[in-house]
Amino acid sequence: MAHILLVVLIMSCDAAEKSGRELIKTCYLLYERVTDDGLVNEKLLEVADYAKEWRPIFSAAGFYDVNQSTLTSSLQALITYVVILIQFSLSLKS
Ligand SMILES: *[C@@H]1O[C@H](CO)[C@@H](O)[C@H](O)[C@H]1NC(C)=O
Repeated sequence: MAHILLVVLIMSCDAAEKSGRELIKTCYLLYERVTDDGLVNEKLLEVADYAKEWRPIFSAAGFYDVNQSTLTSSLQALITYVVILIQFSLSLKS
């Protein structure tokens, strides 16, 4: 159960980070399309800079960033652990 919650938590963190990146991307896309209004362009760049500076980044107490790559690396660690446990139990049996 705790594992499922952890996966959901990591996916939620990743989704929030992704939406932060989407906002920056959207600002630049709008900037490219709205060419005639200088003030709007300026404001779009300001929002993009602001979003870049304040985009959400989740970290585990500052040790590492929490995103989808966290999921794969923790899965790798889990698999390594299970393989070592299997090897131990095999060597104890023989
Ligand atoms: C995910 O987190 C790792 C560190 O845990 C970091 O190196 C990487 O840049 C992050 N990926 C994204 C897309 O932010």
